[in-house]
Amino acid sequence: KRIKIKVPATVANMVCGFDILGMAIHEPYDEMEVKLTDSPEIIIKHEDHFGLPEDPSNNVAGVVLQHIQKDLNLTAGFEVTIRKHIKPGSGLGSSAASAAGAAFGANVLLGNILSKQELVHFAMFGEELASGVRHADNIAPCIYGGITLVKSTAPIDIIPLSTPDLFVIAVHPQVEVKTSDARQILKKNILFKDAIEQWGNIAGLVTGILKNDIPLIGRSLNDVIIEPVRSILIPKFGEIKTKSLRLGALGGGISGSGPSIFMLAKKKETAENIAGMMKSVYDDIGIESFVYISKIN
Ligand code: HSE
Repeated sequence: KRIKIKVPATVANMVCGFDILGMAIHEPYDEMEVKLTDSPEIIIKHEDHFGLPEDPSNNVAGVVLQHIQKDLNLTAGFEVTIRKHIKPGSGLGSSAASAAGAAFGANVLLGNILSKQELVHFAMFGEELASGVRHADNIAPCIYGGITLVKSTAPIDIIPLSTPDLFVIAVHPQVEVKTSDARQILKKNILFKDAIEQWGNIAGLVTGILKNDIPLIGRSLNDVIIEPVRSILIPKFGEIKTKSLRLGALGGGISGSGPSIFMLAKKKETAENIAGMMKSVYDDIGIESFVYISKIN
């Protein structure tokens, strides 16, 4: 038995919702084939050129399948072929896609015996391997689709929100930002007044998403805690944000832990203008970049 799946990229945090909000997008996506085998081995093959480890204990999809195999006392094994298009280290949920795809694929082959919450539980082992943290803000939208709220990870409590009809423009400049470093530099304490502003924004954003109130979504996309610290790791962040807003973006910010930057827009034309601007800002300083225009998925 085998299954072929497409696994979407995801934008974690959605500016103010650090570690709790995320959305799945159409582009880019990974292609995976998961096979249920008679022998208990777990075999991982990469048909891409990112040089990711194929030893299952050291591979994001591999550890997820090891946990599924052990917890469910399976005598069967899995063979997974991964063709990544979501670049590792882009901040677009590359590791989450491999982890969630493995859990999702295995579950279908096993006759859908696991709930979505259980899939999130298993996929988080992959995130732990990739970044040292069991965060689910990329995994949850990857599994549920649309925009999700991770109300908590212990116990796992995921609230699927909705899928507003908006364009997502993402630029991935070719600079390296490791999630572990981008977490390390964050402040350990925050001011009470900043916390109040932040939870006002999060509540506004969630309300805007649920009521499909686009202007409310726009004015809630503000982050007074994480972005001021992390944006220094991303060249031209301020310029791209300012110019995007001037071109009509609703708002946006760092995608996950970066270096990708994302913006939301209502119209295709606005999205295309923003995408062109992003590319030329990086071209001008000689940094190669990849730009994606997508929809929330
Ligand atoms: N919420 C996580 C972070 C996402 O911002 O560190 C990492 O992909």
